[in-house]
Amino acid sequence: MYTLGEFIIENRDHFSYPTEGLLRLFSSIKLAAKAINKEVNKAGLTEKIIGSSGIINIQGENQQKLDNFAHQVFIESLKSRNIVCGIASEESKDFIVVKGEKENSFQKKYIVLIDPLDGSSNIDVNVSIGTIFSVYRRKSSMNLTMDDFLQKGNKQILAGYIIYGSSTILVYTTGNGVHGFTLDPSVGTFYLSHPNLRYPKIERIYSINEGNYSRFPNGIKKFIRYCQEKKENRPYTARYIGSLVGDFHRNMIQGGIYIYPKTEYSPKGKLRLLYECNPMAFLTEQAGGKASDGENRILDIEPLNLHQRTPFICGPVRMVTKLEEFINP
Ligand code: AHG
Ligand code: MN
Ligand code: MN
Ligand code: MN
Repeated sequence: MYTLGEFIIENRDHFSYPTEGLLRLFSSIKLAAKAINKEVNKAGLTEKIIGSSGIINIQGENQQKLDNFAHQVFIESLKSRNIVCGIASEESKDFIVVKGEKENSFQKKYIVLIDPLDGSSNIDVNVSIGTIFSVYRRKSSMNLTMDDFLQKGNKQILAGYIIYGSSTILVYTTGNGVHGFTLDPSVGTFYLSHPNLRYPKIERIYSINEGNYSRFPNGIKKFIRYCQEKKENRPYTARYIGSLVGDFHRNMIQGGIYIYPKTEYSPKGKLRLLYECNPMAFLTEQAGGKASDGENRILDIEPLNLHQRTPFICGPVRMVTKLEEFINP
C-alpha cells in the first residue's frame, strides 16, 4: 500500500521541479482536505456547517458556511508551508499575497488557485462535494502581479481535486497521468487506490443540467437528442449531480461527457476558467480525453480576469468532438 507521499518520492521524475516543493504543497493540501473531510462527515450534527453564511460572494452566489470554512482552511494551510506565494479563490474577489519574511525570495515559488468547496448546493442534502486546485510557477521575481495568476491552463504544473463522497479521494496530475488516493480516515492517510486513471473506451453517460434545455443553443439541444437516440451504442444514460467534481469523477471512471454550455441567461456559461475548468481540463487530457469550450481547447484560452467564466465540455475525445460538430456544423 503506497501512501501519497511515498508515491511522489518513487515517481519524482514526474515533476520537473524539486520533489520537496511538491511534497510541501501536498502536505498543505492534504491537511486542509482532512480538516474539511472531518467537518463534512458530521455536517448534519452541527450548525457550524449547514446553511448559508449570510454573505453574497463575488460570484453573486449565496455563500454557504462550508464555502467559507473551506476557503479559510485552505488559505491558512497553504500559507503555512512556506512554499506558496499567492492564492486566488472562488470566495475572494482579489488574489491573496502570502506575506512573510521570504515572500520575495525564490523559496515561495508557487501560485495556487482554488475552488475550496465545489457543489455548494449539495452540502445540506448529503450529496458528494469537492475541492479543486490548480498550481503554477510564479512569473514575477519581485512583487506578485495579476499576470502571475492569469496564466494559460497549459502552464499548470499540478492540478487536482478532492471528492468528499462515499469515500474521500484525492486525484491529481503533474502531466504524467492521473492518479487517485483514497483517505483511510482511521489512520488519516491517503493511499494509492486509482493509479493511471484513463477514460474507458466505452461511451456511456451524458451529464448536463437538462432543466435549462429551453435556454441552450441549438447545437446543444441537437446533441442532447442525439444522446437519447436509439442507434449504435445509444441512448446514453443521463447522470447529473450538480457538483462538477462528482460528475467529472464518475464520467472519467465510467465513460461520459460533461457539458456546462452557455445559456440564454449566461452567455459565458457558469463555470470559472481558472479554478474549475483549467484544472479539470488538465486532468481530462491526462486521462486521454478532450476539454473544450465548444470551439477552443480550454488549456489554450488566454485568461483576462480571475473569475472569468467559460462554457465547458470534457470527456472522451470522440464524444467531445461529436458535440463540437453539432455546435459548428
Ligand atoms: P460551486 O459550488 O463551486 O459554486 O460550483 C457550482 C458549479 C459546479 O459544481 C456544478 O457543476 C454547477 O455549478 C451546477 O450548476 P447548476 O446548478 O446550474 O447545474
Ligand atoms: Mn465549483
Ligand atoms: Mn465553490
Ligand atoms: Mn460557488
